[in-house]
Amino acid sequence: MQIGPFAPIISAVSTKSIRLNNVRPSSSLSLPACLCSSFNNNQRNLASSLISTAFTRRRRWDILTRGDMLLLFLVALGAVDALIVDGLQVGFYGQTCPEAEGAIRDIVNNEIAMDRGIAPGLIRLFFHDCFITGCDASILLDESPAGDVPEKESSANGFTLVGLNTIDTAKSTLETMCPSTVSCADILAFAARDAAVAAGLPSYDVAAGRRDGVRSNMDDLPGNFPVPGHHVPRLTELFNQRGLSQEDLVLLSGAHSIGGAHCFMFSNRIYGFSEQADVDPTLDPEYAARLRQMCPPRKPDDDPQQAPKVKFDAQTGEKLDNAYYSELLAKRGLLTSDNALIEDPQTRAMVETFARDDALWQQKFAQAMQRVSMLDVLIGEGKGQVRKQCRLVNKQEEQQQQPQQQLEEQEQQPPQFPWFRQHQRPQFPWSRQRRPRLPFPHHPVADMINGFFRVERRCYFIRLLSGGPLPEESFPRQRSTAGQAVTGANMRHCGTLRF
Ligand code: HEM
Repeated sequence: MQIGPFAPIISAVSTKSIRLNNVRPSSSLSLPACLCSSFNNNQRNLASSLISTAFTRRRRWDILTRGDMLLLFLVALGAVDALIVDGLQVGFYGQTCPEAEGAIRDIVNNEIAMDRGIAPGLIRLFFHDCFITGCDASILLDESPAGDVPEKESSANGFTLVGLNTIDTAKSTLETMCPSTVSCADILAFAARDAAVAAGLPSYDVAAGRRDGVRSNMDDLPGNFPVPGHHVPRLTELFNQRGLSQEDLVLLSGAHSIGGAHCFMFSNRIYGFSEQADVDPTLDPEYAARLRQMCPPRKPDDDPQQAPKVKFDAQTGEKLDNAYYSELLAKRGLLTSDNALIEDPQTRAMVETFARDDALWQQKFAQAMQRVSMLDVLIGEGKGQVRKQCRLVNKQEEQQQQPQQQLEEQEQQPPQFPWFRQHQRPQFPWSRQRRPRLPFPHHPVADMINGFFRVERRCYFIRLLSGGPLPEESFPRQRSTAGQAVTGANMRHCGTLRF
C-alpha cells in the first residue's frame, strides 16, 4: 500500500488531457482487455476502473489524462499494485480535494479531544458499515421516504452507535471545501483510520474512491451480523461469508482493546447465567464480581441505553494495543464472543501470538482494516452517488427541502387533466389510491430521544425501548421505529419524551 518511488512521478503528472485521435469506444476498450489478460485481480480492477472513470467522468470517449495514461502504463508494468487496491486509489482526492484527508483528520482529532468515546465509536461504525452491504455508508442513512427502516435501527447494532455526528461535521466541512466530491463512505474509512491512529495505532494508507450507496435496510442484518452471544464457528462463518478469514476475526476483535460495552450486552453472563451457575464460570471470579458491582441487576422499567458502559480493557482502555489479548487469556473477556476466542484451539493460538507481540498485532490489524475497507465498494460514476448529506440520499434530500404543507397539498389535489399526465392514473372510485409517504422531518434532537414525539398532529416513534438485549430474530419486526407515524391508541404515548 505504499506509494513508494512512484509518488513523485504520480504527483508530477499534470492533468492536461491527451486526445486519442480516431479512437472509438469499442477499440479503446479493447486496450485494457488485451492488457488485462496477464493481470492479477487488483490490476484488472484498476485498469477497468481507470478506463471507465476516465471516460465517464469526462463524458468523452476519446480523452484520457496523462495521469490515466501513466497509471495504465504502470499497471502494464505490474508496478502499481502498491498504489491501487481493488480499484480504490491512495491519494484519490489529490487533484479534486487535496485538503480532504487533512480536514477529516483535524475534525476527528478535535472531536476525540472533546470526547474520548468518539475514537472507538468511529472504528465500530466503520466495521458495521462495511460488514453489511459493503463500505457504502449505508449505516449513516436515516429512514427513506419509501419507509425502509435503516441499518442503524437494527437491534444488532444495539442502538448504541457513536460517531454519527462526527461524520456529519466532516461531511458539511468538506461540502464547503469541495462540493459533491468526497463520498461519505470514504470519509468514514478515513475517520476510522484517524481514530485508530489517535488511539495509538501507527498510521496506514486508506485507498479511496468509494461511492455512497442509496439504500439501507435493517432487514439486511439479522443472520448476517455477529452478535455478542456468538461463538467461534458462527463468527468464522459470518466473516468467511464476507471474504474475511478466521485470522481477520481474531485480529479485528482486537478493536475491543478500546471503548466498552453497555451492561445489557453481557448481563446474561453475570446474572442468571444457567440453572447451575448464576455467573458464567468461564469468567475470572474477581472480574465477574467487579462487573456485578458496575452493573447492578436491571429493574424492569430501566432504560438499557442509560445503563453504565464498561471498558473492554481495564488496563489500557483508551489505547489500541494488544492488552485485549492478555485480558482474554486472563479470563477477562467482556462479551461471550470475546471469550469464545480462547475456547477454540485455533483462535486461542492466535490470541496467544498477538498477546506476545504488540507490533505484529498492530501491523496486521491495520492490514485487516484495509481489507475491511474494500468490502463490496461501489466504484465509478455509474454506481451509487456522492451524497451531499450522509444521512440522506441526494434525491431524498431535495424532497425533504420541500415544505411539508406543500407536499400535503399536492397529495390532496387530484390531477386536473389525467389524460395529459401519463404517469398519473385517473382516480376511479373503486381503485384504492396509494398515498405517497411524506418524508420524515429530521428532528434536531432525534438522536437523543427514546420514545415518541409529536410533530404537528402526527406522532413519531424514534427508538424502540427494548427491554434489554434481544436475540436478533425475536426483535419486533413491525415497522414502527425511526419516525414512522403512529396513529390511534398509540397517540397517548406522545407525552413520553425522554432526554
Ligand atoms: C466479532 C464480532 C463482534 C461482536 C459480537 C461485537 C460486538 C460488540 C458489542 C456488543 C459492543 C458494545 C456496544 C455497546 O454496548 O455500546 C461492541 C463495541 C465495540 N466494537 Fe465490536 N463486535 C465485534 C467485532 C468488532 C470488530 C471487528 C470491530 C472493529 C474492527 C469492533 C469494534 C468495536 C469497538 C471499537 C467497540 C467499542 C464502541 C464504543 O465504545 O462506543 N467490533 N462490539
